[in-house]
Amino acid sequence: MFTLPGKESGTPTTCAGPASTQDLGSSYGDCLEGECSRKPDQKLPELHGVGDPVMFSDSSYLSSRGRMIKWFWDSAEEGYRTYHMDEYDEVKNPSLTQSDMQWVEPSLLQYADWRGHLFLREEVAKFLSFYCKSPAPLKPENVVVLNGCASLFSALATVLCEVGEAFLIPTPYYGAITQHVYLYGNVRLAYVYLDSEVTGTDTRPFQLTVKKLEMALQEANSKGVKVKGLILINPQNPLGDVYSLGELQEYLVFAKRHQLHVVVDEVYMLSVFEESVGYRSILSLERLPDPQRTHVMWATSKDFGMSGLRFGTLYTENQDVATAVASLCRYHGLSGLVQYQMAQLLRDRDWINQVYLPENHARLKAAHAYVSKELRALGIPFLSGGAGFFIWVDLRKYLPEATFEEEMLLWRRFLDKKVLLSFGKAFECKEPGWFRFVFSDKAHRLRLGMQRVRQVLEGEAQVAEDPAPCKTQELSDQRR
Ligand SMILES: Cc1ncc(COP(=O)(O)O)c(C=O)c1O
Repeated sequence: MFTLPGKESGTPTTCAGPASTQDLGSSYGDCLEGECSRKPDQKLPELHGVGDPVMFSDSSYLSSRGRMIKWFWDSAEEGYRTYHMDEYDEVKNPSLTQSDMQWVEPSLLQYADWRGHLFLREEVAKFLSFYCKSPAPLKPENVVVLNGCASLFSALATVLCEVGEAFLIPTPYYGAITQHVYLYGNVRLAYVYLDSEVTGTDTRPFQLTVKKLEMALQEANSKGVKVKGLILINPQNPLGDVYSLGELQEYLVFAKRHQLHVVVDEVYMLSVFEESVGYRSILSLERLPDPQRTHVMWATSKDFGMSGLRFGTLYTENQDVATAVASLCRYHGLSGLVQYQMAQLLRDRDWINQVYLPENHARLKAAHAYVSKELRALGIPFLSGGAGFFIWVDLRKYLPEATFEEEMLLWRRFLDKKVLLSFGKAFECKEPGWFRFVFSDKAHRLRLGMQRVRQVLEGEAQVAEDPAPCKTQELSDQRR
């Protein structure tokens, strides 16, 4: 949630919304269902078949691929453009203040191993061993560093899949992954649709089960789409939920049974602010069912609030995969100076453990408690699992009709009040009316944001009956 000065009103404006410019990520999707998410007034590109050019008319300078890449940018960024054009002017908080961060030595200015300097990969291996609680020390040779998870998704898609092949991904999911795997790699996503209904076999809303994975895999196969892997985000974005150890093991065994790669995005690994949720990194497992097909990613964008620094890392035991990704690091690699700074940061374990993480978790917890309390006071159901920066909010009762057009209209009403939320369709949620609220912001901005949310919702006639009984509540109340 951000506070912005209102240009016209002169009052600060708030946006409860994405933590990064990616966050309104478009859901181009794999179109397996012929259903791609876009704003109603924007035309979707059609996939004419694997590898066929897609025609866009707005620039004669770009290739068809370039035009399509530009289309994604144009269509996904409206909320963020609005925010940046009208941004609150607050005193900036410099993040890297330690003087030894500024070190420059000649070797840092030379070409280096594209996997990353050994001194950094050693530090990353130690860091991940400690925070992921790996049963044995992780190895620097299994580490590749590059400029963020977005690039890593792109690189992994390209080196693991042929053009037109797919990854399974449970929805709702962080929608920008669609672009990450498609724009360079031409790889699609095959959705495992989850819903809010709690059934006999499911114990919580939007629960991923092996049965649902099997069904989605079969469906993709029946449409002639070859599935190469499964993407898991843990902690989950946008649900703010984590998978239990048992669940992780089941998903990994499923993947092994079908010889699927598993790409685990743990970018929110250190942003678990409720210890009771029992988060487990995949790297903490005593034994991975298929280590050669298990690839883990982490970055500093979220856990250290440094999305502009562009640092991410892959951990994989598969040396072919590590080498192929490293080869693409010629385009996605980090400057020697940033590598040096990252090693300095990651080795500062005392500061991270004693100062940074306790303070960060306390702030996340307080902000989460505040927004939860406000939502409860408004009688709005929501899900939130004690991890990440967001609450998954059920605004279905505010839609006159259960359609994505109505969801978009409501999103626009928030934006008109200068509150930037993310709508469910951007995460390929199959039920219209879910919104992601980002709460990782300062108290005064959250207060302003929630006041504006209240104004929008109180201005809405509550035309719809409460939707079908969905026992939405805080996940932490009903955790395993
Ligand atoms: C789940 C998830 N993965 C990856 C990213 C992108 O990370 P990076 O900044 O390292 O590219 C985001 C950013 O919002 C995210 O939420």
